[in-house]
Amino acid sequence: EMDPVERAFQERVDAGQKIEPKEWMPEGYRKTLVRQISQHAHSEIVGQLPEGNWITRAPTLERKAILLAKVQDEAGHGLYLYCAAETLGVSRDELYEQLHSGKAKYSSIFNYPTLTWADIGAIGWLVDGAAIMNQVPLQRCSYGPYSRAMIRICKEESFHQRQGYDILMKMVKGTPAQKAMVQDALNRWWWPSLMMFGPSDDASVHSAQSMAWKIKQNSNDELRQKFVDQTVPQAKYLGLTVPDPDLTWNEEKGGYDFGQPDWEEFFNVIAGNGPCNAERLEARRKAWNDGAWFRDGLTAHAEKMAERRAA
Ligand code: ACO
Repeated sequence: EMDPVERAFQERVDAGQKIEPKEWMPEGYRKTLVRQISQHAHSEIVGQLPEGNWITRAPTLERKAILLAKVQDEAGHGLYLYCAAETLGVSRDELYEQLHSGKAKYSSIFNYPTLTWADIGAIGWLVDGAAIMNQVPLQRCSYGPYSRAMIRICKEESFHQRQGYDILMKMVKGTPAQKAMVQDALNRWWWPSLMMFGPSDDASVHSAQSMAWKIKQNSNDELRQKFVDQTVPQAKYLGLTVPDPDLTWNEEKGGYDFGQPDWEEFFNVIAGNGPCNAERLEARRKAWNDGAWFRDGLTAHAEKMAERRAA
C-alpha cells in the first residue's frame, strides 16, 4: 500500500509534471537521482582524460583547437551535473570524496586507453554517439534540474559526435595504414561502447523503479538496440567491419540481431579492475591535490574578509 503523499507524487510523475528541488519526494527517488546524476558528472570529468591524452598530439592546429573545445565542454557538463546533484542536498565535497576514494562509479568506457589518433575519432563517433542515445530521453526526466541540464548537454554532444565521425571520414580516405588504424579503433571500442548502456535488462537492478519514476524512459537493452541500428550503417558508410560475427539484419523486427558484450569484462571494469581505472583515479586525485593551495587561498581570503566585516 502506497501512502497518500507518495501516491500523489507518483500521479504527478505519471502526468508528466516536473519535480523541482524544494518539493517533497520519496527518499528513494532522491537517492536514485543523486546516484545517477553524480555518476554521470564523474563520467564527464573522468571522460576528459582519455582525450586530453591527445591534445598535444592532434595532427593539425585545427584538430587541436576542436579537441580542446570538446574536452572543455566535458568539464562544463561535469560541473553542470554536479550543480544538479547539489540541488538534492548533497555537497560537491562529498561527491568529490566519493570519486577520489574509489567509492563512486563512473562510466566503464573511460577506463580504456586511447592508443592512436583514430581512437579520438572513434570516441566521438561511438562513445558520444552512445551518450546521446542515452541522454536524449533523459531530457524528459521527471526531475527538473537534471532534465534541463540534459537539454544543453545533448546539443554539445551532437557536435562531439560529428567531430569524431569527421576525423574518421578523413582517415578512411587516407593511406591504407590510416584506414587500418580506424578499423583497429572500431575493433577495440565497439564492445565497450555497447557496455555503456549498462547490464542487460534482466541484470539491471535499478531500471524498473527508475522507469516508474520517469528518471529513465527506456531500458538498457532498448537503447543498446537503437544504438546498434543507428551505428551499423555509419560503419558501412566508412567502409568498416563491425567486429561482431553475430550481427545480422532481422527483417521481422526491423533491427539488427547482435552478439552480447563480454559481461564479465564489464563487471570487472566497474568493480575497478579495468585497464586504466587506477590511472584515471590517480589523475583525478593528483588534480585535486594540486589544487589544494588554491582552495586554501580562497578559504584564507574569505576568513580575512569575514574578520574585517566583524571588526
Ligand atoms: N559504467 C559504469 N557503471 C555502470 C554502467 C556503466 N556503463 N552501467 C551500469 N552501471 C552501474 C550502475 O550505475 C549501477 O551501479 P550502482 O548500483 O552501484 O549505482 C549498476 O551498474 C547496475 O546497473 P543498472 O541497474 O542498469 O543502473 P541504472 O539504472 O543507473 O542504469 C545507466 C545505468 C544507463 C548508465 C544510467 O545510470 C544512466 O542513464 N546514467 C546517465 C548517463 C551517464 O551516466 N552517462 C555517462 C557516460 S556518457 C558521457 O559521460 C559522455
